[in-house]
Amino acid sequence: MTTSRRIAVVSAGLRQPSSTRLLADRIADAAGRQFAARDVDVDLRVVELREHAHDLTNHLLSGFPSASLEQAIKAVTTADGLIAVSPIFTASYSGLFKTFFDVVDADALEGMSVLLGATGGTERHSLALEHAMRPLFTYLHAIVVPTAVYAATSDWGAEDAGDGDGAPTGLTRRIERGAREFAELVTGREPRQTADPFAVPTPFEQLLAEN
Ligand SMILES: Cc1cc2nc3c(=O)[nH]c(=O)nc-3n(C[C@H](O)[C@H](O)[C@H](O)COP(=O)(O)O)c2cc1C
Repeated sequence: MTTSRRIAVVSAGLRQPSSTRLLADRIADAAGRQFAARDVDVDLRVVELREHAHDLTNHLLSGFPSASLEQAIKAVTTADGLIAVSPIFTASYSGLFKTFFDVVDADALEGMSVLLGATGGTERHSLALEHAMRPLFTYLHAIVVPTAVYAATSDWGAEDAGDGDGAPTGLTRRIERGAREFAELVTGREPRQTADPFAVPTPFEQLLAEN
């Protein structure tokens, strides 16, 4: 019997075209192949944070999301697995990436399977994935796979001679490894049961009638 999982991709790149989005798409493609190999269908939802940048600031100021930001938050919080990719700015995740997870309810990612990725100008900042991004998701009680995928500018031109035995090297190898760990984690667990974060438990009319 074929099963399915909901996978959200969050990409926080600013440029157009965005290397962060390119990395997110490559990871999502690799994960898709891993899920297909396990006979699992994927409902893929991509959240491009650049499109919500103004609404995120407004949400911080007003406490309320716009309709499209609400949809984006829901796409992430109701997923079974999350691929989260940020550009590295000043040796950490970008402000836009952090702002999105600031407005997501602190409990909403509990138990979420997560694969992390980041892009940067220099290879020297790859450990930002470990000292900045991973602790953020640990705080949110998500379950992050061991391999996090970093792509520096130099990785994009250097694809991919292979190791001589047909196995990939470099960025492709890291993507494949992270995607495999992610698919194993997501498919090894039951689909997440999530409440709609914006659902009103008691209709407003009923509350009025009761008073
Ligand atoms: C404000 C700013 C700060 C940056 N700081 C770093 C940094 O500390 N380390 C690094 O490797 N790259 C840094 N970069 C380069 C970006 O991480 C890199 O260009 C990224 O891939 C851009 O992603 P995008 O194409 O998706 O917008 C910085 C770029 C900007 C604009």
